Amino acid sequence: MRHLRVPNRAVEENLTLLRDRGWLAPGMRVLSHEDGEHRLVPLDPGAPIEMPAPFDIHETVLLEGSLDSRVDPNWRNHLALLVGEEEVAAFGEDWPSSHEFISDMMIVRIENNLEKYTPQIAEAKLLAHPHIRLVLNDEGVQGELRIRELTPIGARVGGEIVTDNIPDSVGSTRVLVRESGRAIACDPNKAYFSTKLQSERLETLSLAKELRQLLDRPISVCDPFCGVGPALATLLAEPDLIGHALASDLNPEAVRLLLDNLRRWDRRNYPSEPFPISRVFEDRVIGIADATQLCEDHSLVGYWDLVIVNLPHRTIELLPSLVPLLNRSNPSMIRGRVIVSESEIGDANEEIKRALPNLIQGLPEPSLRIKRDYSSTLRLCSFEAWISPE
Ligand SMILES: C[S@@+](CC[C@H](N)C(=O)[O-])C[C@H]1O[C@@H](n2cnc3c(N)ncnc32)[C@H](O)[C@@H]1O
Repeated sequence: MRHLRVPNRAVEENLTLLRDRGWLAPGMRVLSHEDGEHRLVPLDPGAPIEMPAPFDIHETVLLEGSLDSRVDPNWRNHLALLVGEEEVAAFGEDWPSSHEFISDMMIVRIENNLEKYTPQIAEAKLLAHPHIRLVLNDEGVQGELRIRELTPIGARVGGEIVTDNIPDSVGSTRVLVRESGRAIACDPNKAYFSTKLQSERLETLSLAKELRQLLDRPISVCDPFCGVGPALATLLAEPDLIGHALASDLNPEAVRLLLDNLRRWDRRNYPSEPFPISRVFEDRVIGIADATQLCEDHSLVGYWDLVIVNLPHRTIELLPSLVPLLNRSNPSMIRGRVIVSESEIGDANEEIKRALPNLIQGLPEPSLRIKRDYSSTLRLCSFEAWISPE
């Protein structure tokens, strides 16, 4: 979590200013800095990437946030009161200790052996996190569209916690998530979206800026697995970074949310109903498409300076069908994510290089960097490849 490093004497004033703008992370604590002269104020994920005046005189630092302890934030303490200390100890690490926040929803994954405790898990999580409206059990990502199967298991209804017969009125999963100064409409029941990829998106932003510097002009970006469009949210927020953009996805519901998002981010009148990929504006190609077939459209081939490949379980296999989209009249870049077992990272690096055209000499070769665990053996990795002109 980003924190603003402010002198001790300026904490109150900055807290007020940040709170007024909605940039103060709710439920998180202000921390002491090791130098004793500063404090670290937790920033909401929706706060701008580059903090404007009057905050720009302070450094932003990344460190793990700490929950405000006026409510006992340890859900296990609440759980122990609901199921008993012995049960908590008996199932040890099987209890769902991690969770993902998407706006005012919390997503947990409950192991099969703990299914009977689902209501107590939901209640304990809601007690520990007073800003949460709805707790959902993640039953895994389904099919090619990578949609999560999410079941509501607990909700706050008029101040009461309910774990049974959750009314539809509080069960809606369509929410606005604030990230890097933008509001992203998403519905994890209908289209893939993960808040855990914010740092990945910031890394893509910094690579895109490097490419702009190399080309000395706004770049054209192609995001053919765009989902609801979070990568574009970050890129479009940077002035003069993006010239032309292609955003497409196979899932019509993802495209519906994307259109809603683009209408706000791009301030243009996008249609509201999803449609097959088409040139909506002279510099915007948007719609439903199978990414592997984009290269059959000659107007899209050889056009894009940056191609984002975000289907990590198939990235390497799909690279040959995406490479023709690159603009090979100048340096270009492929930015991708890959799921691979740790022992096979070396082989995967070689496979990526074989699937790509000539790389730019003197710049680092594509090399998978582990971002996090996907399972006990698989790792979620990312890479970027700088492609030389033809
Ligand atoms: C892992 S998600 C990434 C979504 C988005 N880029 C993000 O970061 O949130 C992969 C996306 O690829 C889409 N998809 C799967 N197969 C596809 C294909 N053949 N062509 C286009 N999109 C596809 C899915 O619908 C899903 O939205």
